[in-house]
Amino acid sequence: MLVLGIESSCDETAAAVVDDTGEVLSEVVHSQIDVHAQYGGIIPELASRDHLRNVGPVVRETLSRAGKQLSDLGGIAVTNRPGLVGALLVGVQAAKGMAWASGLPLVAVDHLVGHLLAVFLRRTETVDAREPPASFPFVALLASGGHTALYRVDGPSVPQIRELGGTRDDAAGEAYDKVGKLLGLGYPGGPIIDRLAASGDPDAVKLTVPMDHTRTLDFSFSGIKTQVATLVREGGPIEGPRAVADVCAAFQAAVTSVLAKKLIAAAEREGVTTVVLGGGVAANRELRRRVRELASSRGMRAVVPEIASCTDNAAMIAYAGSCRLAAGERDGWDVIATSTTSLPRATRKGRGARA
Ligand code: KG4
Ligand code: ZN
Repeated sequence: MLVLGIESSCDETAAAVVDDTGEVLSEVVHSQIDVHAQYGGIIPELASRDHLRNVGPVVRETLSRAGKQLSDLGGIAVTNRPGLVGALLVGVQAAKGMAWASGLPLVAVDHLVGHLLAVFLRRTETVDAREPPASFPFVALLASGGHTALYRVDGPSVPQIRELGGTRDDAAGEAYDKVGKLLGLGYPGGPIIDRLAASGDPDAVKLTVPMDHTRTLDFSFSGIKTQVATLVREGGPIEGPRAVADVCAAFQAAVTSVLAKKLIAAAEREGVTTVVLGGGVAANRELRRRVRELASSRGMRAVVPEIASCTDNAAMIAYAGSCRLAAGERDGWDVIATSTTSLPRATRKGRGARA
């Protein structure tokens, strides 16, 4: 069964055709980075308008690259939460229109579930046939621009996913982007810091990560961003490529070490031997290396998605939708766009229960 996935929750207009084994037949990701870069962050109204301009062409191009028509598909999956509501609405309404016109079943997908299942995606040209696919149960670290949390995943549906801990303030990707902005590196900071960190000395700058212990599986990243802000303010501008690279290396070492450490600790606590990464920050080279290294030192298996599966894409939405369709689930025309996730949040100390 083939499923068309549509994703428009933030600043990527994306579509993909994926089969029910996770094989990606085609995908198009239209990034809005150029629209938002001049503002140093995402402007929701501009995001909605850009999605509206691009959703039609992106879907048409995706179907044409797959050599398929709507009548060849088994369903349409669309991200309906969490995200910018005006941006989500564009994808949701486009998906409803196509489902209505074609008579195909419609399924709404939680973007975070998409990230958690992205590890099952396979792109023919990059797939390593020797690597066995991930299998349930696994413990996943989902680290993106909007979310950073650890989950136990026993299956693909929402009731089979349990949050084990998460950030009490900024998401890891948000911290990367804010530090990128403080250092004047441009937007989004994550991939730029990742690249610059490779030539820096992580010990040249002292940064501390709050909650760098495994008594709690929660994270906190707003403090480290403030430390970089203080460095910039008190030490004057961090001048020269060498100094910038050192700050990037120290920041990256601090953030990736706590993420990797707590992922492994969570799996140990749960008695689960497979760990998985998801979300834009999972594209980070040092995080991928640390997680692989730490997992193998503890006799665990780390399954790390391809880079294209980590950052926002519609293939993960199509695959999560195909799991819902296979379970006999369907949504009606009353599907709405919502800013919050459907995954229950764990109680976080000092913050109370989170909806
Ligand atoms: O999953 P994603 O594409 O969108 C959200 O759902 O938020 O994640 C985007 C985030 C951004 O904060 C970006 O800076 C970060 O992922 N990111 C990275 C890297 N590539 C993207 N962070 C660190 N290292 C990277 N290589
Ligand atoms: Zn995302």
